[in-house]
Amino acid sequence: MERLNLALSTECMTSYQHSDHQPSEDLILITGGTGKTGRRIADRLAARGRPSRIGSRAGSPAFDWDEPAGWAAALRGVRAAYLSYYPDIAVPGADRTISAFAVAAVEAGVRRLVLLSGRGEPGAAEAERVVQSAGAEWTVLRCSWFNQNFSEGYLLEPILDGRVELPAG
Ligand SMILES: NC(=O)c1ccc[n+]([C@@H]2O[C@H](COP(=O)([O-])OP(=O)(O)OC[C@H]3O[C@@H](n4cnc5c(N)ncnc54)[C@H](OP(=O)(O)O)[C@@H]3O)[C@@H](O)[C@H]2O)c1
Repeated sequence: MERLNLALSTECMTSYQHSDHQPSEDLILITGGTGKTGRRIADRLAARGRPSRIGSRAGSPAFDWDEPAGWAAALRGVRAAYLSYYPDIAVPGADRTISAFAVAAVEAGVRRLVLLSGRGEPGAAEAERVVQSAGAEWTVLRCSWFNQNFSEGYLLEPILDGRVELPAG
């Protein structure tokens, strides 16, 4: 798993360095760019030769949802952004943070926002609304549970132990 992450990071870095030599009209910020969805997006963009920047605390520049002071550096030269909020779009306060980030992104010149949302999650509705009204083109992805929750996420260990317990049917 560590080897896989390293390989993907290298590809994204290659892609990002590539963007230094070109106009940055296409630069795409991938928040959560080393996570379950983000690293797959980064991988596919790199395969297409599209410049991207990983938005994570380990990225360069570092991006932290809880540190707005660093957002401007992460957004510099960015024209589209994938928003994968951590830890979960439905946690209280996520909508406020996403709203502030969406406003900062549009002010920085971002023209398209893609929000990773949840399906049938009332807590995600406000985050969707603030992205839709931020002043950029938008896409909302209303995803249900990822299969990868079971194969690489927090449910992997219970699966391997043979017992998954959830407060749901
Ligand atoms: N799992 C599901 O079934 C499901 C379904 C629908 C929607 N969602 C939504 O999907 C989102 C999570 O997406 P995901 O599963 O692709 O990501 P993930 O794998 O859960 O997230 C890990 C990523 O977040 C980054 N990260 C962690 N803390 C951070 C912070 N404070 N600031 C900035 N980045 C941070 C990590 O990098 P660093 O450690 O380097 O910062 C890493 O890139 C959530 O909003 C969730 O509500 C999930």
